Amino acid sequence: MIRKTMMKRFAGVFTAGALTLMGAAAWAQSATSPAGTAVSPVPTRTVPAVAVEGGAQPPAANDPQAQLVKQGEYLARAADCAACHTAPKGQPFAGGLPIASPIGTIYSTNITPDKGTGIGSYSLEDFDKAVRHGIAKNGATLYPAMPYTSYAKVRPADIKALYAYFMNGVPPVAQTNKSTDIPWPMSMRWPLSIWRKMFAPAVVADTASTDRDPISRGRYLVEGLAHCSACHTPRGVAFQEKALTDDSTAFLSGGVVDNFLAKNLRGDVTDGLGSWSEADITAFLKAGRNDHSAAFGGMSDVVQHSTQHMNDDDLAAIAKYLKTLKPVDPNAKALAYDDTVAKALRTGAGKGNGALTFLDNCAACHRSTGKGYTQTFPTLALSATVNSTDPTSLIHIVLRGAEMPWTKTAPTHYAMPGFDDRLTDQDVADVLTFVRSSWGNQAPAVTVAQVAKVRKAVGAAAQPQR
Ligand code: HEC
Ligand code: HEC
Ligand code: HEC
Repeated sequence: MIRKTMMKRFAGVFTAGALTLMGAAAWAQSATSPAGTAVSPVPTRTVPAVAVEGGAQPPAANDPQAQLVKQGEYLARAADCAACHTAPKGQPFAGGLPIASPIGTIYSTNITPDKGTGIGSYSLEDFDKAVRHGIAKNGATLYPAMPYTSYAKVRPADIKALYAYFMNGVPPVAQTNKSTDIPWPMSMRWPLSIWRKMFAPAVVADTASTDRDPISRGRYLVEGLAHCSACHTPRGVAFQEKALTDDSTAFLSGGVVDNFLAKNLRGDVTDGLGSWSEADITAFLKAGRNDHSAAFGGMSDVVQHSTQHMNDDDLAAIAKYLKTLKPVDPNAKALAYDDTVAKALRTGAGKGNGALTFLDNCAACHRSTGKGYTQTFPTLALSATVNSTDPTSLIHIVLRGAEMPWTKTAPTHYAMPGFDDRLTDQDVADVLTFVRSSWGNQAPAVTVAQVAKVRKAVGAAAQPQR
């Protein structure tokens, strides 16, 4: 299902952007991002991609081609190609997933080796051109919904393995591509080539691998194949990621995707990963949860389909690299637990609507201490998710609920119910304001207007009438 509301909301902004794009190429350098443009051309991930089975057979150790195919399969998981190129209930990699963009719906394409409708006739060069340069075989520039600005960092040797996998390890499926629903003149592709020239980084050459150094390996995966920044980096006025490398503290400092905040992954102690250890990060990417938090929204799918399949060395490398990212705000002080509110909740002293709503709807799982139950119901006290300035994720999860990913490491996954038909916008604002100011948390209040906006955008039930 695609999010029409999101498209409508941003259509105005983007139309202006697209038209400007057609007129001149120079505007973006000087433009600053207006409020509310933090939409990105990454897809709706509410529909889990079909698991990729039936690909390559276990390779014989002495067969180099089979080894290459196997390696390509691993890289395709790390790059999560299936997430976008598999439609709900569709054949793996046959395309057709609708991706809401601000100017209309884009459909991912068939990348199975079918000769007629897929990429069966693509040479290695054609494949490379699409994946790393963003240029289709017919010369047209691809929409940046295909994260080629990240894949530009993938080394040619890995592209070769990916190509071997897609040609030999993926069964061909005959399924014709759907054309976009984008109306003319916005459907013209030449402005996309201007975008590409302005924002896409140079593709990397086949340099000697630095993978023995875990930090370099982590950077390689995060910036390139795993395209973490496609969601976690804020976008500018032309929907370009504000940074593609750690030269700027904007890189991985948080972006809104599909009405979730893909939060700050930098070293910030209040809302980033400053208080997470490398082992915490690795556990989160492998199991989908740790003592601090549990994955939800788009991240739940990323863990389920991509990161849980990565090997321990690669996960450790990602964690090590993320821990090198300097905080956006180096002066912020770490939060400390405060038991005043927990005591007050127990004695029943002076309760407002926020505290009462919490006791009635949330405390059974997250407890009056706000500490929840480790690895089962995540802590709300001192949580970086709860203390993020932008409350989009919190409102979204309270209205619609959430489900942890299914992982091999943590097969029992827990869910949180949605409260859209039980709590009014005022109740949600009050309970979240309460949560964000209790137990040592220090985050700004949530307003009724913010809740109403997310309720509409995520297609939640209307407020209950009282
Ligand atoms: C975040 C979503 C997303 C991910 C992840 C993604 N793609 Fe794509 N890809 C797209 C979309 C959307 C298009 C079509 C763009 C267009 O029509 O302009 C596309 C187009 C392509 C094309 C061009 C096909 C053609 O018909 O010319 C190839 C090849 C491709 N992707 C391969 C890959 C591979 C390989 C991976 C993993 C390494 C991958 N994609 C990951 C969204 C994605
Ligand atoms: C499709 C979008 C998307 C991609 C791609 C993505 N993330 Fe996320 N990520 C999110 C969202 C949304 C959240 C917030 C929900 C949550 O905390 O689970 C999140 C949360 C996280 C968290 C939890 C932080 C906390 O304090 O709770 C970590 C760690 C993380 N992502 C790491 C990564 C890494 C590393 C990558 C690349 C391998 C990545 N993400 C790729 C969307 C994405
Ligand atoms: C039935 C138990 C249950 C109830 C009741 C419940 N939650 Fe949750 N909550 C969970 C679970 C399970 C998760 C993890 C979901 C996931 O990761 O997909 C969660 C996650 C969260 C998170 C994200 C925390 C993080 O760091 O990942 C917030 C915020 C939250 N809940 C707030 C609330 C509020 C506010 C209420 C009351 C309106 C509430 N919850 C009621 C079980 C519950």
